[in-house]
Amino acid sequence: MSKDFQLHPDLASTFAWQVDSLYFLLVGLSVFFSVGVVFFLVLFSVKYRRRSEDERPKPVHGSTALELAWSIIPLFMAIGVFTLGAEIYFRMYRPPADAIDIFVVGKQWMWKIQHPEGMREINELHVPVGQPVKLTMTSEDVIHAFSIPAFRTKRDVVPGRYTTMWFEATMTGEYHLFCAEYCGTQHSTMIGRVIVMETDEYQDWLGGGVSGESMVDAGARQFEQLGCATCHKAESGGRGPTLVGVFGEPVPLSTGETVTADEAYLRESILAPATQIVQGYQAIMPTFQGQISEETLMQLLTYIKSLNESE
Ligand code: CUA
Repeated sequence: MSKDFQLHPDLASTFAWQVDSLYFLLVGLSVFFSVGVVFFLVLFSVKYRRRSEDERPKPVHGSTALELAWSIIPLFMAIGVFTLGAEIYFRMYRPPADAIDIFVVGKQWMWKIQHPEGMREINELHVPVGQPVKLTMTSEDVIHAFSIPAFRTKRDVVPGRYTTMWFEATMTGEYHLFCAEYCGTQHSTMIGRVIVMETDEYQDWLGGGVSGESMVDAGARQFEQLGCATCHKAESGGRGPTLVGVFGEPVPLSTGETVTADEAYLRESILAPATQIVQGYQAIMPTFQGQISEETLMQLLTYIKSLNESE
């Protein structure tokens, strides 16, 4: 069976059928109204055509009932489409808390993928079936878009920030992975495969990694090598704030504001430390902009997150 170019890709994720229902509803509504408009257009131009030179049309006085009907009915149809769309949107943009974290870096012209266990791959994404998977994505250069048609999901991958996307595959197999944002001359080659495996096969696959170093271990190593550990000690009293238990928590800033220490905040604090200073500390941290790769940054963040668990 050729899966190369299916008109209607497999429905291989939990929200695929929802996206399709909305899509076919919209197509159905468009067809219904287009056919209706053209049908009456032709019918009335024949039925009410001018039959003699001196014919004058009867005056039209309008109809309140008709006016109300064609305002109120479409209003409810539009609200229905909006509700369905919003429901799917919120589902797609809120990853479940128990999702597996996988990290994606896009660059001209390839997808680099890192699993928390340390396995890395290029233009291939292995995931287990029946488990939510969350992708944290960024780009090294221009805007790309991570698109898996069989999962009915797609999201922009933007330099300088993290975007996330999640899905839960419902069928094992191989599916297309595309870059869906024109990103330069070889945009069309920025493609790959998503391989959905049974959970035990996935575990075996993870175990076959050449690098035995998990993202947390790699992050911990970088944390020492880059000198972060000199100031950010496990207990308070260092020259920088301790990072234990920081992830996901509110942080008071020197400006009096409070921000949540999410991925975006930690990323900014590493690349541009002077922009948001934690209350009670000096702006003495050097910038790491241009000195560490996006992959290293993701490892550092994974390590900082892991400090919460080991408390
Ligand atoms: Cu990357 Cu198109």
